[in-house]
Amino acid sequence: AGTPQSDMAALLTEIPDHPSSGVVFRDLAGLYAEPGMLARLASHVAERLDGQFDRILAVESRGFVLGAALAALTGRPLSLARKAGKLPGPVYEADYALEYGRDRLEVQKSALCPGDRVLCVDDVLATGGTLHAAARLVTVSGARVAGLVALVALRGLGGQQRLSGHSVLALCEVP
Ligand code: PRP
Ligand code: HPA
Repeated sequence: AGTPQSDMAALLTEIPDHPSSGVVFRDLAGLYAEPGMLARLASHVAERLDGQFDRILAVESRGFVLGAALAALTGRPLSLARKAGKLPGPVYEADYALEYGRDRLEVQKSALCPGDRVLCVDDVLATGGTLHAAARLVTVSGARVAGLVALVALRGLGGQQRLSGHSVLALCEVP
């Protein structure tokens, strides 16, 4: 199968003014509901980045979907970056601004190993704040950022420019 871009774009829904006025929300529900699609997307990522990462860091909550599929497919260890206050024990922290709000990501210190090449995974790349924070968690741990992956990148919010120091793979780009 070739690039999934056009098949994916047809399965996305645009919802104006969600979750707040002026935001056009891209809903991925139709993509996840399409039989075989998640497996195909995970395979596409695994093939494109074959041999380039040792571990996957998936971002709460919607990044867990692709992260889990990719970990199951590749057999690579999966670490979870969670919103503030959820994880027990010592954590690394990274604050960030969202398209609609602010938040903080945390990861358990024991979940990242110095020297590991870590692939950070999320569903949507909008302003890039979330994946940028995930990358900072990796860097501060002494591990390396192997790349950043999003199922869908929203062009025009500057996310890809913001993440330009990293290798970014977006499976589908929408305006
Ligand atoms: C959404 C989305 C990405 C992020 C993208 O998550 O799932 O993680 O925002 O935006 P950014 O590129 O501007 O940072 P949200 O914080 O809404 O949390 P959720 O996944 O728990 O719904
Ligand atoms: N869709 C889904 N998640 C998002 C969006 C969006 O448009 N913007 C920020 N997170």
